[in-house]
Amino acid sequence: MSVSEIYETMDYGMAPESAADALAWLVDQGSRFGHFIDGAFTEPRDDFESRNPANGNVLANLTQATQGEIDTAVAAARKAQPKWAKLSGHERAKYLYAIARLLQKHSRLFAVLETLDNGKPIREARDVDIPLAQRHFYYHAGMAQLMESELPDAQALGVCGQVIPWNFPLLMLAWKVAPALAMGNTVVLKPAEYTSLTAMMFADLCQQAGLPKGVLNIVTGDGAVGEMIVNADVDKIAFTGSTAVGRRIRETTAGSGKALTLELGGKSPYIVFDDADLDSAVEGLVDAIWFNQGQVCCAGSRLLVHEPVADRFYAKLRARMAKLRLGNPLDKSIDVGALVDPVQVQRVTDLVASNTAGDVFTAGDIPSNGCFYPPTLITGLNPADSLMQEEIFGPVLVSTTFRTPEEAVAVANNTRYGLAATIWSENINLALDIAPKLVAGVVWINGTNMLDAAAGFGGVRESGFGREGGWEGLAAYTKPKADPKHLKTPAPMQGKGSPESGIDRTAKLYIGGKQARPDGGQSAPVWGKSGGLLGHVSLASRKDVRNAVEAAHAAKGWSKTTGHLRAQILYYIAENLAARSDEFAGRLDAMQGGKSGAKEVAASISRLFTYAAWADKYDGQVHGVPIRGVALAMKEPVGVIGTICPDEAPLLGLISCMAPAIAMGNRVILAASSPFPLSATDFVQVLETSDVPAGVVNILTGPHPDLAETMARHMDVDAVWSFGAEPLSQLIEQASAQNLKRTWVNNGQARDWYSTSGEGHAFLQASTEVKNIWIPYGE
Ligand code: NAI
Repeated sequence: MSVSEIYETMDYGMAPESAADALAWLVDQGSRFGHFIDGAFTEPRDDFESRNPANGNVLANLTQATQGEIDTAVAAARKAQPKWAKLSGHERAKYLYAIARLLQKHSRLFAVLETLDNGKPIREARDVDIPLAQRHFYYHAGMAQLMESELPDAQALGVCGQVIPWNFPLLMLAWKVAPALAMGNTVVLKPAEYTSLTAMMFADLCQQAGLPKGVLNIVTGDGAVGEMIVNADVDKIAFTGSTAVGRRIRETTAGSGKALTLELGGKSPYIVFDDADLDSAVEGLVDAIWFNQGQVCCAGSRLLVHEPVADRFYAKLRARMAKLRLGNPLDKSIDVGALVDPVQVQRVTDLVASNTAGDVFTAGDIPSNGCFYPPTLITGLNPADSLMQEEIFGPVLVSTTFRTPEEAVAVANNTRYGLAATIWSENINLALDIAPKLVAGVVWINGTNMLDAAAGFGGVRESGFGREGGWEGLAAYTKPKADPKHLKTPAPMQGKGSPESGIDRTAKLYIGGKQARPDGGQSAPVWGKSGGLLGHVSLASRKDVRNAVEAAHAAKGWSKTTGHLRAQILYYIAENLAARSDEFAGRLDAMQGGKSGAKEVAASISRLFTYAAWADKYDGQVHGVPIRGVALAMKEPVGVIGTICPDEAPLLGLISCMAPAIAMGNRVILAASSPFPLSATDFVQVLETSDVPAGVVNILTGPHPDLAETMARHMDVDAVWSFGAEPLSQLIEQASAQNLKRTWVNNGQARDWYSTSGEGHAFLQASTEVKNIWIPYGE
């Protein structure tokens, strides 16, 4: 057909990208792959096949890793790590830069191979996956270069085990490998079993870049291999995938001391207000839910439309859906490609078939062969319908309407996930009013699925924890340089007299701004150094923890106060503590049998000043992302933080946990030192005279294991920190898996609360979540 004939008829003509070079590369490799361990490929076995989901053709045979191979890969990474970390940041930067350049040079080859292996449209692989992977290596080459000057107190964690999914195979590899290597870690990575080929090509490229052997190891196989990595002798696990597997990994790694980041599922709301540019919002939806066939963790899969424009918007959307072109993913004009595997087609089919509610609209002709599923819209659902709650991970959009902005926020947040959210409105005041109210790690305004290495990505709630990208992403690949010195915990005093002797002074619990008797009515004696009775403390029960959580939730207004106000209150607490210094010093000496009470009180006052100072200075950032616009990295409070306070330095430790948390706008439930609780219960009087609103600080006394477990299991506690002397890390991390709450545990290591390990950025980071709000502007 001539060009003029095409213009005449406007017939659609295929424009397929050639697969010849990618297929030739596979043949060159023998179409069989072993693992990439210690700088070389191992002997391949034909354990499983990688197929092209668009036509079912076998692309290559792959090897299922054995335990022995995982051990060898981990040993290679372990051996290579010290030398890699010892290189200057500049040396590591050069390797990362070389990888970025090679990725750029072979862009087309990677894009085609990705499309063949995954089924995504070549346009997306070419314009999104591969350029963003390159960008990640460039960006992190810069982070390696700057590490010494900008992160002087940080060092590598060691060996990182990384398990990635199949939806963005090379991009997820880049997200995990680039920051890990930049910070001096070495890696054992497993791609998903459906999509290992670009990882193999990447290994080839690392050989070309001369990356020292053992720095990056890639092993292939299914979930069983993932599990072996999780259980291996590694220092960190980074996982992206399903919430079910993420939860399991949290349970398995509990108490192991391994660092963990989880990037899990989502059911992200896409909110269209009546004043939105509706045509743009429809186009945004094409990106939000049909990009990568909806197999995107942050897909805008839950459409919420303002009632006045709902009918008009749905009509426009259906018309647009009817024009989506499904088919051969290598065709450059294709909008929707193939799902990754027949398993996934079946999963989506079953989920949609299980639904009986709403009106279903499907569009597009499905090719007879291959893993295709039609773009689908289900309108008229209720927020509680299962398809409004379950992640479908396919090209299926579910929808309901809302009447007011308040209702939009309530429906949007009615999910166990919290990954991303999209707002469409021409009213920037409205959009910026809504954005902070959405429970999500990323919010896009008048745009969607915008991603960049400079803007951290990650979720809250059951979408997981940790961020990838940006400065905050580096925290997940580093630890503080100085090994904390350990303070010694004095042994609890033994009593000589009768616990019943003297006047009964039982310190109460402090819940919701009131002193409260424990629900079970129990108390325990606290003895002084010469065996005399100092007093009794209440023993809190589960019910008391629940009451404290309720009180903390009721105090949510604290999170909206200004840093300036919180600073003033922290200074005021310090002032009131200072007025009673001698009394507190005496109490500490009496409980611990030492002479350091005065020093501890002075350090506590100074610590309160530190966080009063930070309250209005721990700023967010404005990221220069590659769009016309900005990404605002806002630091938000985590919510309700339960803390098992340290036994070493019982007052200073308690204040070191409380002050950063409340300075950042959290509400806290503090389980005071169990052997030395009385300075905490005395501190209640300081709080009472310092304008701290009721419920912001709650103080419990009692046995740490019970309190820790109840806090960790409670669905309304957002984070649990544990610095007690009892070995509670495993218990807390395991119990926290239920709602995937953030945990910060000491793995049995006492801290020196007087030194820098007792205050500073680590505490502020743990007290905040970064929410990136993307705001495009201009034309
Ligand atoms: P998955 O979570 O099982 O797989 C992701 C990765 O984890 C793969 O590399 C897999 O081999 C590995 N894996 C599986 N079981 C493991 C275990 N016990 N320990 C360690 N690693 C393990 O996800 P799957 O089954 O492929 O997809 C199921 C659903 O998960 C999807 O329908 C979707 O809802 C969700 N999903 C979410 C992703 C995201 O980006 N958030 C990515 C992939 C899947």
